[in-house]
Amino acid sequence: MSLFRKKNVEHMLASARGSSLKKTLGALDLTFLGIGAIIGTGIFVLTGTGAVQAGPALMVAFVIAAIACCFAALAYAEFSSTIPVAGSIYTYTYATLGELAAWIIGWDLMLEYGLASSAVSVGWSGYLQSLLSGFGISLPTVLSAAPGALPGHVTWFNLPAFLVMMAITALLSAGVKESTRVNNIMVAIKVTVVVLVIAVGVFHVKPANWHPFMPNGWSGVFGAAAVMFFAFIGFDSVSSAAEEVKNPKRDLPIGIISSLAVCTVLYVAVAAVVTGIVPSAQFANNPHPVSFALQMAGQNWVAGFIDLGAVLGMLTVILVMSYGQTRIIYAMSRDGLLPARLSKVHPRFATPFFTTWLVGIFFGLIGALVPLNVLAELINIGTLAAFSMVSIAVLILRRTHPDLPRAFRCPGVPVVPILAVASCLFLMANLQAMTWIAFAIWLVIGLAIYFVYSRRHSVLGRPAADPAHAQAATATPAKRETVTH
Ligand code: ALA
Repeated sequence: MSLFRKKNVEHMLASARGSSLKKTLGALDLTFLGIGAIIGTGIFVLTGTGAVQAGPALMVAFVIAAIACCFAALAYAEFSSTIPVAGSIYTYTYATLGELAAWIIGWDLMLEYGLASSAVSVGWSGYLQSLLSGFGISLPTVLSAAPGALPGHVTWFNLPAFLVMMAITALLSAGVKESTRVNNIMVAIKVTVVVLVIAVGVFHVKPANWHPFMPNGWSGVFGAAAVMFFAFIGFDSVSSAAEEVKNPKRDLPIGIISSLAVCTVLYVAVAAVVTGIVPSAQFANNPHPVSFALQMAGQNWVAGFIDLGAVLGMLTVILVMSYGQTRIIYAMSRDGLLPARLSKVHPRFATPFFTTWLVGIFFGLIGALVPLNVLAELINIGTLAAFSMVSIAVLILRRTHPDLPRAFRCPGVPVVPILAVASCLFLMANLQAMTWIAFAIWLVIGLAIYFVYSRRHSVLGRPAADPAHAQAATATPAKRETVTH
């Protein structure tokens, strides 16, 4: 039954206790870390797509997506406070559902993190171009967006999106990590920009624009909720800092849930303001809808400030997502599920140099060639599937390890994890058929790799695999590289 072989939870806990990382982060730091990873392309760019789909009821769509995230976050928080080791849900799943499920999750997360960095680079490009246009600079249209991204225009390649990915990849491969200090500055910038949108925009709202409230009925609202889920992705990144948290059992759940709560309030307010300033249909295919709304309100200087804040703020999201991506691959390679070459650490930079460039170039090209809406849907389906599995894993862990100390217990088990699965599946059901097909193809490729390669090379499956060996494999990717200064 090698498909279900599992890592040993007790050994994972022991290795986490032995970690030499400094424990410096508190609940507030984690909340900032979460907000830093959450606010990005979703609110700054996809708001336009969502407004076209849902109309002013985009506000409701945000709340629906947030409720689904909240159920998943509660389950996630139980997991992250019970098994505080880095490696994200891939590692958790390895300990609970076994190797095959862990592989699927890891494969899924590669899609999530990789494409998310591509998607945010596209959003970044839209705002950079808007910022530059304020100075009278514009790129040749063919180099401004992916093919098919701007109906009515011939576009070939999103050059700024590609270049920003290369810059971030260079930083990551040289060992630059997001530090808490830089993150806090970025969070301050992003939150200031969002609050500015709300504070200035509110005086330009024309309530008449809120009618009709739901131009496309509930199906438009649900479809928008499934897309806008993207705007919340990132709250899970808090759990990956588990080993550096002073009191993980208390602070982690607070960090995850409070970052989600703050963002929900901000998002609903932004949705109310922008759909109140501009009739929703006018946001179609606009790569910088939030600053566009302020331009339409005649607030050009505020719009310029938003462009600048978005350009700066989205950089951290690309960094966090690319970092997460390389570390997932690293962890899977260390466990033998991917070739060892992918976890080779550069002698000088102490980073997975090869992997970082490999995925940086690959996902940089994807950002340059695929329109944002397509990317966002794919990311969402992968993430929603991963969250469903985490929620199921919480239920399983309660049965298999009932006595494991849990500082944070998901309330209302089994109802809440079941609601989490149901709401994730509901959002998935509202994504387009093409997205499902692409996701299915990705999974089939993943399963083929698992059965042909990973199952035979798994560290846990090697004859020498004794508990100590398994523990070594669990020891998280590049400990010395994990965040924070
Ligand atoms: N939530 C992140 C964003 O909106 C991924 O950019």
